[in-house]
Amino acid sequence: MFEVSSPTPIQALALPILEKKGVEVFVKREDQIDVEISGNKWRKLKYNLIEAKTHGYGHILTFGGAYSNHIAATAAACKRFGFQAIGLIRGDELNSQSNSTLQKAAADGMQLEFISRSQYQRRNDIEWLTELSTKHRAYIIPEGGSNPLAIQGVAELVDEITQDFDYLVCPVGTGGTLAGISSRLKKHQTALGISTLKGEKYLEELITNLVGRTSGWQLFHGYHFEGYAKFDSHLIKFINEFYQTTHIPLDPIYTGKMMYALIDMIKKDKFAPGTKIISLHTGGLQGIYGFNQQHNNLLKT
Ligand SMILES: Cc1ncc(COP(=O)(O)O)c(C=O)c1O
Repeated sequence: MFEVSSPTPIQALALPILEKKGVEVFVKREDQIDVEISGNKWRKLKYNLIEAKTHGYGHILTFGGAYSNHIAATAAACKRFGFQAIGLIRGDELNSQSNSTLQKAAADGMQLEFISRSQYQRRNDIEWLTELSTKHRAYIIPEGGSNPLAIQGVAELVDEITQDFDYLVCPVGTGGTLAGISSRLKKHQTALGISTLKGEKYLEELITNLVGRTSGWQLFHGYHFEGYAKFDSHLIKFINEFYQTTHIPLDPIYTGKMMYALIDMIKKDKFAPGTKIISLHTGGLQGIYGFNQQHNNLLKT
């Protein structure tokens, strides 16, 4: 019913550190799934959109921050597949012209409503969600798109991997992607999640609830660079050098931190020689433009 370009390619990384440590790393290029609805966003939206269509909804309502990849992707998906999108955006000081993400979402036809941070806190409050759904006659997708239907969509990317591997690594925001991949791994495989948020220990519980078990996945909290969307010169240098060497662009919020973490762990001998690792390029590249606008073109493109 809704199609984009998959299976996505898997690319081997050729870096001196990998050769030195005898570890193989591949990148599953989920960023190439679609220009606008890229990476894990499509995986998480797919079955939600099918569910909405099946139940006759014309409106999709969702939540996000000012630079949200999920907002950008939902707006583009709704435009493409014939839904009216409504985005509730955190920050009543913002407007539809505040940055390139919001401008593009508005241009794609998403109706943007800017709400206070305290109101946004209620984004998972069932009573409020029921009210919103009734008022807008809308199918509701949670922040980041992470719900049980998202897990089903994300799991499909694991089915696309035909080679054997030991670890599948991904960045973590709301936890749906890590939950989705770990739900489909074999017993000898482990999903590793790199948290992009600072001190969000509730993620363990959330992921446990989504996957239904505490084994088969691990979450790392040491690579958030002081918080969501925070960065330092080491991270920027790493992303620029990685791009120069591999021609793979990484965003500073998710995939940059994931790859930094993975290479750092390899340097620190966290993986035995002979280990095979697949890292997930979850997209998010639309964020680079806004980041460069805000930060004096720090990232090479
Ligand atoms: C590019 C990108 N990668 C990774 C993530 C994290 O995924 P999840 O929210 O499912 O943990 C997000 C946010 O959802 C994202 O936009």
